[in-house]
Amino acid sequence: MYVRSKIVVANWKMHKDLGEGLRLATEVIQMLHNQVKDKVQVILLPPFIHLEAISKLLPTAGPIHLGAQNCHEHAFGAFTGEIAAPMLRSVGASFVLIGHSERRHYFGEGSALLAQKVSIALIYGLRPIFCCGEVEQTCTVAWQENFVEEQLATSLFHLSAEQIAQVIVAYEPVWAIGTGRTPTPTQAQAMHQFIRYIIASKYGEEVASSIPILYGGSCDTENARLFFTRPDVDGGLIGKASLIANSFVTIVKSLE
Ligand code: 13P
Repeated sequence: MYVRSKIVVANWKMHKDLGEGLRLATEVIQMLHNQVKDKVQVILLPPFIHLEAISKLLPTAGPIHLGAQNCHEHAFGAFTGEIAAPMLRSVGASFVLIGHSERRHYFGEGSALLAQKVSIALIYGLRPIFCCGEVEQTCTVAWQENFVEEQLATSLFHLSAEQIAQVIVAYEPVWAIGTGRTPTPTQAQAMHQFIRYIIASKYGEEVASSIPILYGGSCDTENARLFFTRPDVDGGLIGKASLIANSFVTIVKSLE
């Protein structure tokens, strides 16, 4: 059977000036040198303006890659202040985060726009890391599943099987982001299994079983291993704990 990659992603969000970012990336690269297990990939998502400088620090072949936290839905044009997918490729990014809840919430990004962003990313050779997750902790499992299914269907299911096989899914319950609260590993596993089932219903088992599904939301050095040992949890999307090299490296090393 095809073994999908294990992946840990560092989402720095809007943190670190250039000097701080270079220091953090250097520390992570040094600490992970020869320490990353087979089939494990590490992806750093610094702010856009640090991408080029950090790409120069990365060994050309190796398990550490670069991505961006967002991209525009068009390839170029009169969109002042925006950044396009081919620009990101040209400065060393090979991944892009799409549909993070902070983009959905603060910048009003909806399903149709996110579907366009996923498509443009794929056209320009960026692998999308697509975020989904329910907003409320208190709703029923059925409600949470419907919510996530709708997010997947409206932003990913226009893709061909070859295209969706390039996508990484990140399940981030919004109520768990930056709050110190998390679902139990059993609850996270159940949602990951459901996500894989929904993808399989549309694209078949083989495609669904090849797609990495990451957990995000207050994932830290204490709980990472508990999530990562579940069969459908293929790694993590890490916010706060990715801003300290030691913590992030500990999380990467907790992947089996
Ligand atoms: P925290 O790890 O800080 O909860 O953030 C999660 C997140 O939003 C990663 O994209």
